[in-house]
Amino acid sequence: MKIGVYPGSFDPITNGHLDIIERGSKVFDKLIVGVLVNVDKKGLFDYPERVELIQRVTAKYKNVEVRCFEGLLIDFMKKEEASVILKGLRAFSDFEYEFQMALMNNKLDPEVETVFMMTSAQYSYLSSSAVKQVAKFGGRIEGLVPDEVIDDVYSKILSL
Ligand code: PNS
Repeated sequence: MKIGVYPGSFDPITNGHLDIIERGSKVFDKLIVGVLVNVDKKGLFDYPERVELIQRVTAKYKNVEVRCFEGLLIDFMKKEEASVILKGLRAFSDFEYEFQMALMNNKLDPEVETVFMMTSAQYSYLSSSAVKQVAKFGGRIEGLVPDEVIDDVYSKILSL
């Protein structure tokens, strides 16, 4: 069974993430969305909330699971018996950072491959931080995050 892991912060999940998850679910027998728990960085949503939002919008993909992980991605891969890291590439500017991470992960465990999917063109400008900024200043986030998540983003920002 080919198990892939799609790691990230997902604070919150965007339509760009969902596009990669949907396409990734067709490539792997099982795709695990791994939400990195970063104790040094306070995000908008806490980790159980991020997981719940992702589960809500991926429920229709029966081979997609969502879990949190702490520490090294490569250790999480081992624990989940996964062999492929799935990453989305938006723009040339993503390349250097992703290249470095892929090489580091390969150094840590040469058995693990990193596979990149080009983000669909309509989401190439999209990021969780841009979504948060737009929502914070009252802009519209329709089309940027899944419809089922829009109200959660606005109410979370208002509650701050
Ligand atoms: O959505 P993000 O914040 O760009 O995702 C970054 C993520 C979670 C993929 C990356 O920070 C990560 O894999 N962190 C785990 C720590 C790790 O394994 N580091 C070694 C590779 S450089």
